[in-house]
Amino acid sequence: MIAKDEIAKPSTPERAVLDSLELSRLPRHVAVIMDGNGRWARARHLPRVEGHRAGIASVRATVETAARLGLEGLTLYAFSTENWKRPRLEVLTLMTLLKDYLKRELQTLLDNDIRFRVVGRIDGLDSTVVTALKEAIARTERCRGMIFNVALNYSGRAEIADAARELAAEVAAGTLRPEEIDEDKISSRLYTAGLPDPDLLIRTSGEMRVSNFLLWQIAYAEIYVTPVLWPDFRCRHFLEALAEFQLRERRYGGVVEPEHVAPRSRPAPRETPAHPTAVTR
Ligand code: FPP
Repeated sequence: MIAKDEIAKPSTPERAVLDSLELSRLPRHVAVIMDGNGRWARARHLPRVEGHRAGIASVRATVETAARLGLEGLTLYAFSTENWKRPRLEVLTLMTLLKDYLKRELQTLLDNDIRFRVVGRIDGLDSTVVTALKEAIARTERCRGMIFNVALNYSGRAEIADAARELAAEVAAGTLRPEEIDEDKISSRLYTAGLPDPDLLIRTSGEMRVSNFLLWQIAYAEIYVTPVLWPDFRCRHFLEALAEFQLRERRYGGVVEPEHVAPRSRPAPRETPAHPTAVTR
């Protein structure tokens, strides 16, 4: 049972969006490319890292909303393998923010029955980060609510290569025959094994790229790009993405019989925040 008042108070703009949703037709798994932290900071004449710091409140709001809606999975893209190219101070700050987040939010994750996981090459991270991550994974292991994945040191191509290497090792060991390798076998060796593929991919800050994120898993995902910069992203924006998702026809390459097609009325135009020109991520 979804407690609407816990997600959005009555008579608020977010409640209007929540009330417009068909709660039986929510996506099972939502993936988010959190983008625009640097631009948010630059618009305020602040160092880039302040954008990341401000983005923590958006992480909190998104995790809370997704869990209260009863989604099965939420995957947030926090750090890609390409992000190591960023200035050392920025990388260090991101890792510190992550550790602080886990320290502060672990109890909230437990209270909300949220299972924390990491997708990515975790062992490539600093040992203090690995310790904090492993502790959060172990402490929430028995939670049975939403799975909250954080993508760290993540690359979609590397993930597929890792899965291929695992399968090849099984073939070499004689425990798997090459003809047994199919799409399900590959999915079962991905970092997201056990979770349904994302139905919805959200990207903030207006960029129209998938940036090497969950390449295999987003094959049929609806893509929703919002101009809102990540530090400004809140419950209402997440609900707006779900409302747009519910307007889309999902055909998986087939056809939809007319009686099953949802009426294609558009939501009221969103407020577009003013922000400086995009910089490539
Ligand atoms: C993209 O903005 C954002 C990131 C690379 C990092 C996101 C990380 C956090 C919000 C903090 C840690 C996360 C968790 C889950 C606790 P950008 O710097 O590329 O922005 P720009 O495109 O405007 O420069």
